[in-house]
Amino acid sequence: MSPAPARERYGDRLFRPERVAAELPRLSALAAMHDPDTFRCLTGLGVSTGWRCLDVGTGPGHVARWLAARTGPAGTVTALDRDTRLLRTFENPPNLLPLDADALSAEPGTFDLVHSRITLMHIPQRADLLARLASWVRPGGWLIVGDHVDFATHSSPHPPLRQTFAAMRRMLNTAIGTDFHFARDYPGRLRDLGLTEIGVDAATPVLRAQTPPNEFWLRTWDQLWPRMELEEEVYREARRLLKDSDVVDLSLTLVTAWGRK
Ligand SMILES: C[S@@+](CC[C@H](N)C(=O)[O-])C[C@H]1O[C@@H](n2cnc3c(N)ncnc32)[C@H](O)[C@@H]1O
Repeated sequence: MSPAPARERYGDRLFRPERVAAELPRLSALAAMHDPDTFRCLTGLGVSTGWRCLDVGTGPGHVARWLAARTGPAGTVTALDRDTRLLRTFENPPNLLPLDADALSAEPGTFDLVHSRITLMHIPQRADLLARLASWVRPGGWLIVGDHVDFATHSSPHPPLRQTFAAMRRMLNTAIGTDFHFARDYPGRLRDLGLTEIGVDAATPVLRAQTPPNEFWLRTWDQLWPRMELEEEVYREARRLLKDSDVVDLSLTLVTAWGRK
């Protein structure tokens, strides 16, 4: 009997990093939507000069560059991704070290701080990967992880938005195993890994025309739509709503949790 075909992974067909013209603006909108909340959480952990940091699934590297500026020349930020092409489109500081590696098999060493955002949710082996991330934190250091949880779109007052987000969740879950609920219990998961001083933050961006959240979802749907099970009329109306300056709604929530080893 021939083995079952391996499941498609993030980046194989969807969100391909070599499609820089599509992925760079999409992930830059993602960063613009979430950076203020991520940076607030990282600031709270006291990241400062000389720290050795690791950013897992760094994408274009917005968080990695912020960490590199905070840690300064005495610190280092290892920016790990299966494909660092998007990261390398930027002029990065010398203390930012790109690392082309699969997080599921990498052995990057140990760090004062290990961070990962909107990455574990897209990797089916996410529970094992979370334990790997914790193993890369030095005693006394911090693990901080953030992912999307969809608390708000189920109850959107705009049915086309409700239906389009639902079709997107189903499609991504079937195609690459994305989980829009895993981060709901990050605090418990970090505690189970033996971390202490657990903290959690939940930030829900607002959907409003011509803002980063709307740009991010429009660009994401551009890629997913051909494989989503959704009537074209509903999809067109959802897009129209995201471009309508009278429409205000809620996006997915970034749940960020941290703990100390
Ligand atoms: C949605 S992007 C998030 C980018 C960035 N962390 C941010 O929040 O702005 C997910 C990133 O994870 C990377 N990725 C996915 N699976 C990976 C794996 N197994 N190992 C390393 N990187 C992976 C992708 O290449 C992509 O750059």
